[in-house]
Amino acid sequence: MKNNEDTQPALKDVFKDDFYIGAALSLNQISGNEPDAVALVEKHFNSVTPENILKWEEVHPAPNKYNFEPADRYAALGEKSKMHIVGHTLVWFFQTPDWVFQDESGKPLSREALLKRMKEHIFTVEGRYKGRIHGWDVVNEAIEDRGAGETENLRTRSWYKAIGPDVLTMAFKWAHEADPKAILYYNDYNFYRGRQCKTVIRLIQNLQSKGVRLDGIGIQAHWGLDYPSHDQIEKIIGDLSKLGVKLMITEMDVTVLPFAEDHLDKKLTSLDPGLQKKLNPYANALPESVQKEQAQRYAEFFSIFLKHRDKFKRVTFWGIHDRQSWRSDWPVIGRTDYPLLFNSQYEPKPAFDAIINTGLNKK
Ligand code: GLA
Repeated sequence: MKNNEDTQPALKDVFKDDFYIGAALSLNQISGNEPDAVALVEKHFNSVTPENILKWEEVHPAPNKYNFEPADRYAALGEKSKMHIVGHTLVWFFQTPDWVFQDESGKPLSREALLKRMKEHIFTVEGRYKGRIHGWDVVNEAIEDRGAGETENLRTRSWYKAIGPDVLTMAFKWAHEADPKAILYYNDYNFYRGRQCKTVIRLIQNLQSKGVRLDGIGIQAHWGLDYPSHDQIEKIIGDLSKLGVKLMITEMDVTVLPFAEDHLDKKLTSLDPGLQKKLNPYANALPESVQKEQAQRYAEFFSIFLKHRDKFKRVTFWGIHDRQSWRSDWPVIGRTDYPLLFNSQYEPKPAFDAIINTGLNKK
């Protein structure tokens, strides 16, 4: 592995004829407090997504109060390096304050009032960056985790409860009107669990049958060493691409830790010591054998993306270096994960080299 930055090929150059290579940026990075991370972004990436600052709770924390300062910086940072700039996200059930769904007395808003609020938010936020933010995750994660595949199976919370399936129709319509040149995505996760993929397909077909403009589907790709399988990824790509829209990998990271959803939202230190050790096996460092395993997985994923390069527009990583990753705090809080391409000292990991090699040896 070469650590010398200057002789290292840049990811974005190796894949320049295939797809954009993106990174999600934290507030710290956007604010200029982590120049080493920003230097990596400028060298290796040609697309950016904001990790949090354009989510409703950040950009629109109270009625009539917008906080655009971080997003203005974000757009300027992306423009400085001529990046493909992504907006994340306009309509989501999570990281959206409760007041959004309530009237002044705390009662649930009527359908009409909530639609009006959603429209105002989309026009204000997307409209401010018209022509500058090139693509938007218009709706994020609209369907239930264990989507049945039989019906639209929208989440029962917030937007969907008050508005119903029209929430998607209207969100995409207004997102198109707010900036007709912006690329509009639907973004979701767990596509590899077939049922959820079927549900999304039904949902998109429904929107398409109503003449709603939707340009792409974002596959989040918060994956692991043993999931999804090669065949599952091929199936997702085959099924989704039949919809005639572009595909994007929008939030890629590959955890090296054991599956721990049974302990959702628990603090690691609250579990018994044996379990702590089991769930957090690499507290001090990642063994070379696991680095290698992770590198092989990344190489496998990228060889699939390259095989389907005609269908993919972008592959974005959910962060730059391991220290910033949300995966150390989910599903269990306080583990030490290593899911990204650069280590906490901003050095490239074997996973980085494996992706570069896959790109240099493409057919
Ligand atoms: C989802 C969201 C992202 C981010 C990740 C985890 O995938 O789309 O914005 O919150 O979860 O942090």
